[in-house]
Amino acid sequence: MTARLEGKVAIVTGSGHGIGAETARVLAAQGARVAVVDIELAAAQGVAAQIDAAGGQALAVQVDVTSEESIRAMVSAVVERFGRIDVLHNNAAALDTAQRQSDRDVCNVDVAAWDKALDVNARGAMLCCKHVVPHMLEAGGGSIIFATSGFGQLGDVTLTAYAASKAALMALARSVAAQYGKQGIRSNAIMIGFVINDHAQKTVPEEIKQILLEQHLTPELGRPRQIADVVAFLASEESSFITGAVIPVDGGFTSHSPAMVPLRQYFERQGSNKL
Ligand SMILES: NC(=O)c1ccc[n+]([C@@H]2O[C@H](COP(=O)([O-])OP(=O)(O)OC[C@H]3O[C@@H](n4cnc5c(N)ncnc54)[C@H](O)[C@@H]3O)[C@@H](O)[C@H]2O)c1
Repeated sequence: MTARLEGKVAIVTGSGHGIGAETARVLAAQGARVAVVDIELAAAQGVAAQIDAAGGQALAVQVDVTSEESIRAMVSAVVERFGRIDVLHNNAAALDTAQRQSDRDVCNVDVAAWDKALDVNARGAMLCCKHVVPHMLEAGGGSIIFATSGFGQLGDVTLTAYAASKAALMALARSVAAQYGKQGIRSNAIMIGFVINDHAQKTVPEEIKQILLEQHLTPELGRPRQIADVVAFLASEESSFITGAVIPVDGGFTSHSPAMVPLRQYFERQGSNKL
């Protein structure tokens, strides 16, 4: 693998599990020194140990992104260990089963779940930017990436709070791009489709996975590596003219007509797609 991130220092929040863990491994394999940041210290240490064992350099840090103090301490620890920060991937999100089951339609959303989604997913990302951007400005620039979702763009029947938090990240990505672009900081959001990982998504029922697969244009649902590769690209100089963008990395999930799946089924029944 090329070392296109050689010399760069990256922070990946929520990288103890799932897509974030794979992203931390991929950034490290491409030459970055990586801060593996998660509320679960043991999980962060496990990923950092994998990176070290593969010949990379990683620092595991326990952080609760709802706490500004915790973020401030994490950023200091990263700068102390690695001397600079070039990349911030705001990936952490509250996605455990209890959270998802309390986050329903507006009349039935648990207010605590609303607060938690906004606190972790949106406010947490803002706080990480608030404390990382000054270091990037000092170093002459950087790249910030936000993990958002089709839920942040399209209406759906559940996950009201999650959707609002992910929409907020699209606005935040553009604000950061507008505010610090002239000083060399790029800021983009990736709108992720359904990705099967070893953590949150393993509890999603098979029938739901099948429904979602039908709405993706790819043969399979996403894999963490497919997301990590795009983060690595956005972290690298290869994407130096991309900023303020919301990039779908979703197997076409948000690209097509809502009538596509029933139409396909209709045409299959008719034996032709003649309209
Ligand atoms: N997997 C998907 O299908 C999918 C789809 C669209 C968007 N996304 C987004 O991608 C990102 C990663 O999702 P994932 O599927 O890997 O989820 P995941 O649950 O496996 O990973 C989330 C990580 O965030 C950590 N975390 C939770 N609360 C935290 C806190 N307060 N402080 C610090 N860390 C905290 C968790 O411990 C976990 O390691 C999320 O932002 C998610 O919204 C995922």
